[in-house]
Amino acid sequence: MSDIDVLLQEHRLFPPSPAFRAAARVQDTQLQDAAASDPVEFWAREASELTWSKPWDTVMHWTPPHVTWFAGGELNASVNCVDRHIHGSRRNKAAIIWEGEPGDRRTYTYWDVYREVNLAANMLKKLGVVKGDRVAIYLPMIPEAVFAMLACARIGAVHTVVFGGFSPESLRDRINDCGCKVLITADGGYRRGQIVPLKRHADKAVAECPTIEHMLVVMRRRSGVGDEMAAEMQEGRDHWWHRLKRDVPRECAPEAMSAEDNLFILYTSGTTGKPKGVVHTTGGYMTGVSATSKYVFDLKEEDVYWCTADIGWITGHSYLVYGPLANGATCIVYEGAPDWPEKDRLWEICERYGVTIFYTAPTAIRAFMKWGASYVEKHDLSQLRLLGSVGEPINPEAWMWYHETVGKQHCPIVDTWWQTETGAIMITPLPGVTSTKPGSATTPFPGVRVAVLDSQGDQIGVGGGLLALTHPWPSMLRTIWGDDQRYIDTYFSKWPGRPDLYFAGDGAKRDEDGYLWILGRVDDVLNVAGHRIGTMEVESALVDHPSVAEAAVVGKTHDIKGQAIAAFVTLRNGFTASSSLRDELREHVAMKIGALARPDDILFSADLPKTRSGKIMRRLLRDIAEGRALGDMSTLADATVVDGLRAQYEAQE
Ligand code: WTA
Repeated sequence: MSDIDVLLQEHRLFPPSPAFRAAARVQDTQLQDAAASDPVEFWAREASELTWSKPWDTVMHWTPPHVTWFAGGELNASVNCVDRHIHGSRRNKAAIIWEGEPGDRRTYTYWDVYREVNLAANMLKKLGVVKGDRVAIYLPMIPEAVFAMLACARIGAVHTVVFGGFSPESLRDRINDCGCKVLITADGGYRRGQIVPLKRHADKAVAECPTIEHMLVVMRRRSGVGDEMAAEMQEGRDHWWHRLKRDVPRECAPEAMSAEDNLFILYTSGTTGKPKGVVHTTGGYMTGVSATSKYVFDLKEEDVYWCTADIGWITGHSYLVYGPLANGATCIVYEGAPDWPEKDRLWEICERYGVTIFYTAPTAIRAFMKWGASYVEKHDLSQLRLLGSVGEPINPEAWMWYHETVGKQHCPIVDTWWQTETGAIMITPLPGVTSTKPGSATTPFPGVRVAVLDSQGDQIGVGGGLLALTHPWPSMLRTIWGDDQRYIDTYFSKWPGRPDLYFAGDGAKRDEDGYLWILGRVDDVLNVAGHRIGTMEVESALVDHPSVAEAAVVGKTHDIKGQAIAAFVTLRNGFTASSSLRDELREHVAMKIGALARPDDILFSADLPKTRSGKIMRRLLRDIAEGRALGDMSTLADATVVDGLRAQYEAQE
C-alpha cells in the first residue's frame, strides 16, 4: 500500500482532553474565526504584544509578490527576546538549560543571557561589525550559538547560521554569497563521542572568503575530553571569544531596527545546484514566531520547552531561539546525538529537567520506534503535556507510537507544517481546540490562508493538488539574497497571472472534513531525515569527481530517514565501476556538501534514460529506485536503457 493510500484510510480522531482544553490558552474557535475574517487585524494584534521603540504606520502593504509589514515601526529582536524579561519576575528565570554531549551542564537565567548577549554584541562591534553587515555563525549547539545570534540582532548585523554538519565548501559558498565580514565558530563540537573540528573546517573555508576580516572562536573543548580540537589561531584575524569578552564594555545599547530591516539570511536547498539565501526581516518574523510559539505550543510561564532542532535550520531559529525566548520561556538546548552514550539520552534529559513540551522530527520518532519502547519507559516523563512534530510528513504509525509511548495518550500532538521560507508555522492543530488525525497537519494557523490548487490555479475542494498560501503573512521571506528574480520565479510564478499565490513546492490533499494532508515535495528537492537537499546539488557534487561524466539523483523511500539518496552515475572513458569507486564517490559528496548528503545507493550505468530532447527522466529513475512499475515511457529515446538499469538495480539489492 502506498503512503497516500495509508493516509486516505486514516479516520481516527483525537480531540483534546477536557483537562487540556480547560487550561489551554485557546479553548474555542473564536481566535480562528476572527482571524479568518480579518487576518491583517489578527496579525496587528499579535505584533502589538511585542516591544516596539516606535509604532508602525501601516500594518501591511501588498504589491504582489512583495510585501511589507509594520512599515514605519521600529524594534529590536534581542530586546524582545531578552531585555523585556529582565525587569520583572522573569529576571532570574532559567532561559536556557544546556547540556553538552559529554555531560557538562550550564543554566542561564534571562539576566545571564542579557549579560552574555551584550558582551557578545560589543565583541562584534570591536571587530568592526556595524548595522547591515553580515556575520556567519558556524557553531555546535552550545549556548554561545544563541548569544551570537541575539548579539547580531542587537547591533543590527544580519546573521547567517550554517549548520555545523556542512562541509568547508558549503560554508565557503554561503559566506561568499552574502559577503560576511566575521565568522563566529568554535574549536569544535561533540557528536556521538567524536570531535567535529569546526575551526579546521572554518580555516579551510575562509582561505577562499575574501570578505572575512575576523574569526571569533569559542573554546568548546573540555580539558581531558577533546584536546585534539586544538585550534590554530591566526594572529590579528582570529580571536578567542573568552579573551575578547574581557576587553569589551558590559552594556551595548540595542540598535533601533526598522520592521523591514533584515534580521537574518538562512540558506536552503532548491531546485538548482546553488542553495538560496532566504531573507527574513525583523518585525514580521518576530510577530510570526512569537504568536505561533505561544498558541501552537500553548506556552505557559512554568513550561520547560524543548525543541530538538539544530540552530543551523529554520526550526532552530524560530522555535529554539526567537519564538520561545520572545515568550520568556525556559528552553532546553542539547549539543549532541540522541543515542549517545545510550539510546535513552533524550528521555533522560526530559526526566532530569521535567520537560513539559517536546518538539522533534518524524525521522527521530521513527528511530526511537526502531530502538524500542524500553528506552522511553525507563524514564519518568510524567511532566510532558504537549508533543510536536515538524520537518516531513509523519506516518500514522509513527504518530500513534509517539502518542502512546511518549505521550501516554494524554499529550496532544501538534504536527506543524511550514518551511524556511514561511519563517513560522503555517498549518497546525491548536492543541486545546483541534481534534487531530494521525498524519494530518490539520488546518491553517489563524491569519494564514491556504489553498489546494490544480495546475490551472483552480481550488480543489476535496482531493489532492498543489499547496499554496493565498494571503501574505508577516514572517514570509522577503526575497532571495541578491536574486529577487529567483524569489519571483520560485515562489510566485507557478500560476501565470497570479503573483499573489505563494507556491510551497509541496503536494497536499484536503479531505471531506477540510483537513490538510501534506504529501511531500513536488519539485526536485529531497527531504532526507528532515533536511532539505536539492537533487541538483548532489548531482553537481558527483560530476565534480574526475571519474563522473553524468549523474542523476532521486529520492528513495527509507524507513527511518523518510527519503534516502539514490544516484545513477555514468563514468567517463577510462574509469571502471567498482565498489571502491562507489565508496569514493559517496565520500566525495560528503566532502563537498556534508555527511547529510551522502548517497545511500550509487548505481553505475552506461546510459541514463533520457527524453528525445536529452532531458534525464528522473521519474523513471525514481520508479526503478523504489522498485515500482515503470510509468509512462512514451517520451523515452531508448527504452532498452531502462530495462538494463532496472535489472542491474535489482541485482544489486
Ligand atoms: C516539509 C522545515 C509534512 C515540507 C520547517 C516542506 C513537512 C519542507 C512538515 C520545508 C510537516 C515540513 N508535514 N511535511 N509537518 N513540515 N515539511 O525549509 O516538504 O527545512 O516544504 O523547513 O519540509 O523544509 P524546511
